[in-house]
Amino acid sequence: MWHPPERTKHAPLPAQWPNAAAAAASRWFSPLSTGRLNLWERTWLPAMVPWRATESGFVTLEVLDWYARFAEGRPGAIVVEATGVRDIPSGPLLRVGHDRFVPGLKQLTEVVRRSSGGRTRLFLQIIDFLPIRRRPDKTKYFERYLKLTDAHRVYVGAHLTDDQIRDVLLAMTDAEHEAVLTSRELEALRVGYRERVTDVDLPNVQELPKVLPKIFSAASSRAERAGFDGVELHYAHAYTMASFLSARNERADGYGGERVNRVRLPLEVYRAVRAAVSGRFVVGCRYLADECIDGGSGVADATYFGVAFAKAGFDYLSLSRGGKFEDAKPPKVGWAAYPYTGPSGWECMPTVLADRQGPFGRNVPPSRVIRRAVRAAGYETPIVVAGGIHTFDQAEAILKDGAADVIAAARQSLADPDWLQKIRAGRGDEVRRCVFTNYCEGLDQKHRAVTCKLWDRVGLDEPGIPLVDGGKRRLTAPRWEP
Ligand SMILES: Cc1cc2nc3c(=O)[nH]c(=O)nc-3n(C[C@H](O)[C@H](O)[C@H](O)COP(=O)(O)O)c2cc1C
Ligand code: SF4
Repeated sequence: MWHPPERTKHAPLPAQWPNAAAAAASRWFSPLSTGRLNLWERTWLPAMVPWRATESGFVTLEVLDWYARFAEGRPGAIVVEATGVRDIPSGPLLRVGHDRFVPGLKQLTEVVRRSSGGRTRLFLQIIDFLPIRRRPDKTKYFERYLKLTDAHRVYVGAHLTDDQIRDVLLAMTDAEHEAVLTSRELEALRVGYRERVTDVDLPNVQELPKVLPKIFSAASSRAERAGFDGVELHYAHAYTMASFLSARNERADGYGGERVNRVRLPLEVYRAVRAAVSGRFVVGCRYLADECIDGGSGVADATYFGVAFAKAGFDYLSLSRGGKFEDAKPPKVGWAAYPYTGPSGWECMPTVLADRQGPFGRNVPPSRVIRRAVRAAGYETPIVVAGGIHTFDQAEAILKDGAADVIAAARQSLADPDWLQKIRAGRGDEVRRCVFTNYCEGLDQKHRAVTCKLWDRVGLDEPGIPLVDGGKRRLTAPRWEP
């Protein structure tokens, strides 16, 4: 993983935990009721892909166990991992692109309701993404994948056969490749082919504004039938909808360029979704307070989008940051690029090896700006913020300051799914504290079952617990005996 060049090592923040009465009287553990969003507390588990679905995208027993374990901690809301809206193979990522996925998802909503005593609201994060290929072997790339063009023929020698041209290209140096290949061909060679929302010469990309509202609304309707309390439209990180919002989106068909055009499709998708679900059903979105890439959208863009989303009627706005392909590291041959390997990936899930500012709460200042603008425009839309938040004092300070309405914690909740229960009971000193070195994220990157290094080798002989890696890791955290 990339780290800021300073590589200043920060320790997790010192924590002073409240007693049970102080926790009960706190802002963080107080209810929120705004429009359709009703939470018993302002605690929140943001989406985390654990790689436990089947290869065809169905809910498994391991998926049920994973969410049941988080539900036992009774956060105000759980957002279920990024779930594909299309009916296309996507590896072991949950899917909701067809009615056949509804029964499994229904089991999931029932398990969470039961395990949280009905306290936790459950939202499904729904995602669309564009095709991406693995980084090819160089020989295969020149022999099979590269589409020969006149530019290659002229450069290499128009009298040669296509096979001879391929051989010459293969034998060239890196510098010669840079001279003869286009930037996209070079990317396909060195990183792997990846479609962009600006590839409007491709019919499937050109028609995205036409097809996505229907695809997202059908997926949302299935989520409602499966018993979810709402959906979270995934407008963040490296995926299709975030790419429409991006300042790098230069589509010339009214869906790129100026902010008003970049936000058009996200608003059209929202309206289609709203029209497809009942009046009680929550429709929120996750988007970026800052893309954290050169030439990308910054806080001013995110503020504009936030006000537009609030005006359109979104029930909440959840802010993340970074996580883009544009600055990702080239993967090894045979692997696909991963959007959390460069500086923007670090901004999304920062580790303790940081710059002077440190890894904790980096998204809070932009969240404050966005929330103030939304309120100034006359909207009460709740703002959810995440990123390195792991102590009670941090959460309280953010809420007191008005930088957000709800505090989300992903990795701290993974490190200790019972941490909220412990704080409520006045036993915060028993919290197993995340060390923010991203072992979990390393597993995610390799599409391996995500676990936490603080507990995945503890009590492996416990009867009946599911294990992976030949019995070396357990899949859920050991129980806390209060
Ligand atoms: C293993 C893992 C998987 C994640 N999967 C998702 C995801 O599916 N959707 C999403 O919006 N964010 C995802 N995230 C990002 C988290 O929701 C969160 O924004 C990020 O970890 C920063 O918050 P934290 O410091 O509380 O962990 C993932 C994070 C981790 C560690
Ligand atoms: S593996 Fe555990 S301790 Fe390490 S960053 Fe992930 S959640 Fe935190």
